[in-house]
Amino acid sequence: MKRNYYSALAITAAIGLTSCKSEDQSASASGGYPAEQVAEALYQVLKSDRKVYAQKIVNRLVNKDKVIKAHEEWESEKALLLPAQFFREGAEEVDGIPDKAIDFTYSLQSKWPLNYENAKKKTPKVEEGLEAVSDPDNPLYGKKWTGEEEIAGKKYFVGIYPDRAVAPACWECHNDHDNRKPEYPEFKKNDVMGGIVIRIPIN
Ligand code: HEC
Repeated sequence: MKRNYYSALAITAAIGLTSCKSEDQSASASGGYPAEQVAEALYQVLKSDRKVYAQKIVNRLVNKDKVIKAHEEWESEKALLLPAQFFREGAEEVDGIPDKAIDFTYSLQSKWPLNYENAKKKTPKVEEGLEAVSDPDNPLYGKKWTGEEEIAGKKYFVGIYPDRAVAPACWECHNDHDNRKPEYPEFKKNDVMGGIVIRIPIN
């Protein structure tokens, strides 16, 4: 499908970036912005929304005010969605938008998944990127990992960005969860707990 510069501009403006046309067209998602820049901007929005939900909704109401819990069975338990579920609901909404200007997808993954279904979705590149951003001995720890991969004959830019323990609710719930495997870390403030994986088709 032919994509044009203006659609990229609209998307980027909508997520709050000043527009500036890049010289580097090598991995352009849109003819306007390189996929890497688009992914980075998306990450900033996703990360901010995730932090606000964890700190100002879950942590405040569950841990501080203790008026409600966050639970996987949020509907039947009359509870808040887990931050990971809130994030996935958003990703599914995005998947359902027809004719997106840029056909991106995103998900939340970890080297140490509590949800074993999440583990099954990892491609070798995603494994590699998660390893890099979440291993304290790796120079990319806490930074971004970028690469390319081919799925069903289509080429994608893949960006993997750190997902950090931004509120006590994060590590308290994970460190105490029944699905932890023996090698599961003891997370603390600001640790990288997983990665936000963003995929954008490139030509
Ligand atoms: C009340 C418990 C709870 C809280 C609070 C919580 N999580 Fe989770 N988290 C889970 C559970 C359970 C899953 C798996 C849920 C799913 O995928 O449906 C999960 C999934 C994840 C994943 C995806 C990989 C996996 O484990 O399956 C990451 C990364 C993650 N959480 C990080 C965080 C961070 C960072 C925070 C704080 C911003 C946070 N979590 C807050 C329970 C929690």
